[in-house]
Amino acid sequence: MKPEIIVTGRLLPRTQEALDRIFTCHKLYEAADHPAFLRQHAQQVRALATFGASGADAALMDQLPKLEIISNFGVGVDAIDLAAAAKRRIIVTNTPEVLTDCVADTAMALVLATLRRLPQSENYLRAGQWGTRGAYPLTTSLGGKTLGVLGLGRIGEAIAKRAEAFGMKLRYHNRSRKNLAWPYEPDVVSLAKNSDVLLVAAPGGPQTQRIVNAAVLDALGPQGFVVNIARGSLIDEPALLRYLREGRIAGAGLDVFDNEPKIDPAWFSLDNAVLLPHVGSATEETRTAMGALQVENLQLHFAGKPVKTPVT
Ligand code: 8YV
Repeated sequence: MKPEIIVTGRLLPRTQEALDRIFTCHKLYEAADHPAFLRQHAQQVRALATFGASGADAALMDQLPKLEIISNFGVGVDAIDLAAAAKRRIIVTNTPEVLTDCVADTAMALVLATLRRLPQSENYLRAGQWGTRGAYPLTTSLGGKTLGVLGLGRIGEAIAKRAEAFGMKLRYHNRSRKNLAWPYEPDVVSLAKNSDVLLVAAPGGPQTQRIVNAAVLDALGPQGFVVNIARGSLIDEPALLRYLREGRIAGAGLDVFDNEPKIDPAWFSLDNAVLLPHVGSATEETRTAMGALQVENLQLHFAGKPVKTPVT
């Protein structure tokens, strides 16, 4: 008999097909009555296939007493209650490595788009203003500027390497200092003070909640830019909106927000922000690889083998 699992949200068709071959899948996102759905499957379900934003909280784990493993689609597990999972000896897996290059590419695209105002200048052209008002106003170069990477994990390091190729200087702050040539900053304020672009690449969760606050934005100053490809929760979003509106920082490039996907409409009218709908890893190739790894972890677990990418 196939093990029974719950899938919390719609997967790529090929990922869902792979799961269907191995498991009996119950789709939470298709159920009209979630409590009734969970009661119906509680005694059979041994695994959860979930996503970045849906995650899994303690209340959900409580309702699934046979749960052995939570396999997350995405590297960020801030929406999974890891302490609750550990207490119940539930294994948690994520999808690191396979998305690193894509997310780092998106980060550099955002740095370029934000400093060079590429979407704004395209809008200028599309509005017919090139012909009527003349050349688009000058923007800011990347070369020689300092990129301050907040969170030098796999993704942060991949971004730093790309930024070097663009002629940028690097600095970083991380929970721990790394054995790397780039200068280490002891805290976020000093990183912002010594950077032209603050690149947020640290994991979400309680430890990093709102660490980019008004004091950090003051340290970055009116010529500074913020780029966030991590989680909206790392930035004090009302403060960032205020600083952008008042020109107290130069601009922002954001792939992540509070309350995705129903973000604060105040963003829509800001001319000094470049905004993306959380597309850091969103390519066919990367999302396929993420799905394959999500499935592989489940498969290994039910074959009695160690999972490939546990979250420790
Ligand atoms: C995905 C992400 O968009 O890996 C992550 O943590 O945020 C993204 O790659 C997300 O997991 C999909 O839900």
